[in-house]
Amino acid sequence: MAKKSIAPVRTITGAVELPGDKSISHRYAILAALAEGTSEIQHFSTAEDCHCTLECLRRLGVAIETENGRVRITGAGLGGLRRPRRALDAGNSGTTLRLLAGVLSGQPFESMISGDDSLRRRPMRRVIEPLTRMGASIRARDEQFAPLEIRGGPLQPIEYTLPVPSAQVKSAILLAGLYADGVTSVVEPVRTRDHTELALAEFGARVERIDQTIRIHGCAGGGPGIPRLEARRLVVPGDISSAVFFLAAALLLPASNLLLHNVGLNPTRTAVLDVLASMGAPISLVSVHGSSGELVGDIVAHYGPLDGGVISGTMVAQLIDELPMLVALGPYTERGIEIRDAQELRVKESDRIAALAENLRRMGAQVEERPDGLRVAGRSSGGSGAALRGAEIDPHGDHRIAMAFAIAALAAEGESIIRDADCAAVSFPDFFSTLDRLLER
Ligand code: S3P
Repeated sequence: MAKKSIAPVRTITGAVELPGDKSISHRYAILAALAEGTSEIQHFSTAEDCHCTLECLRRLGVAIETENGRVRITGAGLGGLRRPRRALDAGNSGTTLRLLAGVLSGQPFESMISGDDSLRRRPMRRVIEPLTRMGASIRARDEQFAPLEIRGGPLQPIEYTLPVPSAQVKSAILLAGLYADGVTSVVEPVRTRDHTELALAEFGARVERIDQTIRIHGCAGGGPGIPRLEARRLVVPGDISSAVFFLAAALLLPASNLLLHNVGLNPTRTAVLDVLASMGAPISLVSVHGSSGELVGDIVAHYGPLDGGVISGTMVAQLIDELPMLVALGPYTERGIEIRDAQELRVKESDRIAALAENLRRMGAQVEERPDGLRVAGRSSGGSGAALRGAEIDPHGDHRIAMAFAIAALAAEGESIIRDADCAAVSFPDFFSTLDRLLER
């Protein structure tokens, strides 16, 4: 399926099982690979990104079996990874590349890690700098892009304040911190997703948060009192960043009624629900419970008019992956949506600010693009009739752009075409078939 045609629909109803959370799946896989014993991870993400992490771990000598969404990983132990014979391929996945850069920095061998064209354009100095300070030697193309050639070795602990709010950078340092001789601290002035900290604790590492500082005790050298990681049985919650596309469809389409099962509700990921609720969205949570340090629950969503508003400041980091969908809802809101302080969106799988502006304009929206965000006019500043018209969408190879516009197109006037729709598989291979099953025309 290269192109996918999206016709307007009447409504969306039913129950949805989301793929396992992509961020959590990467972390469980990496920590299971470094643990002792065999871990079993249920509801592991089907995303291509997470498949890349598993492939990289296999190349590092880790035994992995997959069967019906269940992954069994026999860990090599912290000191047991093997020098890969070829370069590791992180595909489109920034999380794979940056988190593994942290692990590779602690290994007594040299390795190379790279990815696809998009990943090779994304900024890596943000991990190179702290990992080099810890003692790794890292060569990069133009000193800032993948491929990264990493010569690991004994690491020293550092105290590092994140210059950009990034869970991937924080995680790379914490994972390297496992190999350091002492306590490594990461200070995050803006809170980011904390799955690494929670997963490290689950696998038995000594990790603690005090205000904005996360401290990890290194396991270098082993010995009495030095923690080791232990295999675990874990279940990955559904991915809230994938759930958002269905929530948006429910909000847009009259008479809709959706139940999203077992969605991860970690408070560092639910800002999108708060924003939608503040815009008037009728969303409710049920059966919320804990699972291996994470929160999980069901989300119920119905049709409801959205007011719109401004998203800026520290909130941006907490809903960075949900911004494409929120922005694409802009023309359907009363007052429109404005995003500020989101320059990070320019260095994601695509330049998401440019891709959103370009495709919204193709659909007839009024958009003002800015260096750090954009403003999308709402219904109150447009005429009567549908907020958007069908158009040919270019997702620029970016899964979240493809899915956001597939949803926006459901309520537009006329048919839309999503080019290169297969790119949705980067996070959600069954996105279009799940959507088709729920739509009523
Ligand atoms: C992720 C962190 C975020 C997010 C990405 C997944 C993670 O990236 O955009 O999709 O799993 O840690 P940054 O750390 O670059 O903000």
